[in-house]
Parts: sequence; C-alpha cells; structure tokens
Amino acid sequence: MTDFEFDLAVLGLGPMGRALAGAALDAGHPTIVWNRTPQKARPLLERGAVLAADAPDAARRAAVTVCCLLDYPAVQRTLDDAEAPAVLVNLGSAHPGEVRTAAAWAAAKGIGYLDGAILSPAPAIGTPTATILYSGPAAVFEAHSAVLRCFAPRSVYLGPEVAAAAGYEMALLDLFTTATGGLLHAFALALSAGLDLPLFARFAGGMSALLPEMAQRYARHLADDVYPGEPSTLAAATTAIAHVAAAAHDLGVDPGPLPALQAMFGRAVADGHGADGYARLARALARFRDSTPTGSP
Ligand SMILES: NC(=O)c1ccc[n+]([C@@H]2O[C@H](COP(=O)([O-])OP(=O)(O)OC[C@H]3O[C@@H](n4cnc5c(N)ncnc54)[C@H](OP(=O)(O)O)[C@@H]3O)[C@@H](O)[C@H]2O)c1
Repeated sequence: MTDFEFDLAVLGLGPMGRALAGAALDAGHPTIVWNRTPQKARPLLERGAVLAADAPDAARRAAVTVCCLLDYPAVQRTLDDAEAPAVLVNLGSAHPGEVRTAAAWAAAKGIGYLDGAILSPAPAIGTPTATILYSGPAAVFEAHSAVLRCFAPRSVYLGPEVAAAAGYEMALLDLFTTATGGLLHAFALALSAGLDLPLFARFAGGMSALLPEMAQRYARHLADDVYPGEPSTLAAATTAIAHVAAAAHDLGVDPGPLPALQAMFGRAVADGHGADGYARLARALARFRDSTPTGSP
C-alpha cells in the first residue's frame, strides 16, 4: 500500500525522458510527467500519463521521481524550492564531482537519492537490451528496483558509493565519443579519397567487431601490469598513425584527432615503451597528470 497517487514522476521529456515515461506506462505504472516545454508531453498524455502543474507538483505526488534533465544544476534549480521528493533517481549524464554535489544537496533536503547512468540509446529503453547502472544507498535501490526495472531489465546496482555509476559512464562516454570522432574522421578520409562508402562501412564494421576481445585483453594486461608486444606494439602503432596523418595531409583533410594520437603514442615510445603492447598506453596516460608540473593544464 502506498500513500502516493503515482508510482513514478518523470521530470524532463527530451528523447530519453519520453522513452523512460513511455516504458513506465507500458509496464502499467501510473506516471506523472513534467517538462519545461509542456507540449512535449502530449504523446505521453494520449498513452495515459498525467501532466503535472509544475515539477514540485509531480515530485510530491509520486513514490519515485526520475529526473532526466540536461544537467544536474537544472535538477537542483527545478526542485530547490519544492517540498522534497521522497526518492529522487537522477538519470542524466554527469561527472562524479557533480554527482557528489547533487547527493549532498539531496541529503540536506532529506531526499532518498540514487544516481544512474543510462548505457543504452532512447529507443532501447524498456526492451531487453537496455542497461542502466545505479549507485547510492542499498536500501533505496532495494525498495525501488522492481519499478526501476521497467526501464531496463538489465539494471546493475554498483553499490553505495553514489558516484560509481557516473565513473563508469564517463569512461564509457570517453570510448563512445572518441570512437565516434575516429569513425567520422575516417569517413572524411574515405570521402576525400573517393572511396565506395558502403564498402568502406562494411570493412569498418568488421574492425569494430574486434573491440570486445581487445577490451578483455587490455583489462587483463592492466590488471597484471604486463604488456606483451604481441600482436602489435606501440612503436608499430606510432608508425601507422604517421601514415594516416600523411595521407590526410595529402588529401587536404583536417587532421582532426591525429596530432593528439601522435603525441600520446609518441610520448610512450619516447619513454621507452615502444616494444610494449597497446595497453601500456592506458597505464602511461593514467599517470600523465602525476608527471605534469603543478600549474600545467
Ligand atoms: N538520448 C539518448 O539516447 C541518451 C542516451 C543515454 C543517456 N542520455 C542522457 O539523458 C539525458 C537527457 O537526454 P535527452 O536526449 O533526453 O536530452 P535533451 O533533448 O537535451 O533533453 C534535455 C531535457 O532537459 C530539459 N532542460 C534543459 N535545460 C533545462 C533547464 N534549465 N531547466 C529545466 N529543464 C531543462 C529539456 O527541457 P525542454 O524540452 O524544455 O528543452 C529536456 O527535457 C542527458 O544527460 C543524456 O546524456 C541520453
């Protein structure tokens, strides 16, 4: 038995917030929604959602308030003057420092606070492939995990350290954004060279299929702190990047991320790691700040 009219309030109806509210409705949860631009709620209202008068109204009437706003300051501004929601689940992207600030703000207001990181695109929400990471107090997660599962059957609880989900999200966003930037730069090269783009895309897909094995292997090498130079070395990678940079120059393509890659790999080779395998670079970069003189960027 609950004292609340709604199982869920969803604040923020961008593509992700709309997907979350839609999944809640599909699972049969009474859901109240709010968005700064209320017109975006219309398709959800046709599916049975209720539109709140304002964000505090939504948060007050629901057992769990899910926020999916642009950033965390927007969450605090939206709820600061409100009667504290019972439980707040913050599903927007944020770095760990922002999450700790938000958790301290929530604690001061007596809000049960969970942080989450959505690892799937909006169309996957509510499907078996959707994955969301959660961190924060175990009691809050256990009390509400059944309802949260409507968003992602593969919800993973990482433990009480509230910024843990954001830590994984930032490392994974690093992978996603730099890999996407690399793919787009490769397309720029392919376009300038007049390559057959569908054929290029087929070969590019084959390369991306190598990633799962590489990720597992690098994790092992980093855990063991051992970097075998098979099947390839940092010195060989540095030469390969130089070939690509020269090709980009000849084609008049913007060098994009290539100078940064040349600097990263070149530094590791100059430090004597040329014969090591690729995972050594992660170890060297992780120590980069330690070796940077105070005051340097
Ligand atoms: N889209 C995805 O597939 C995806 C995947 C994984 C994670 N995420 C994360 O989910 C979060 C939301 O993503 P989205 O795609 O739904 O983003 P979005 O389209 O940028 O939506 C942002 C939401 O924040 C609201 N907003 C922005 N500034 C605000 C303010 N100052 N006060 C109140 N509300 C404000 C917007 O309201 P208005 O409608 O009025 O502008 C909108 O509801 C992001 O953190 C994103 O990184 C998204």
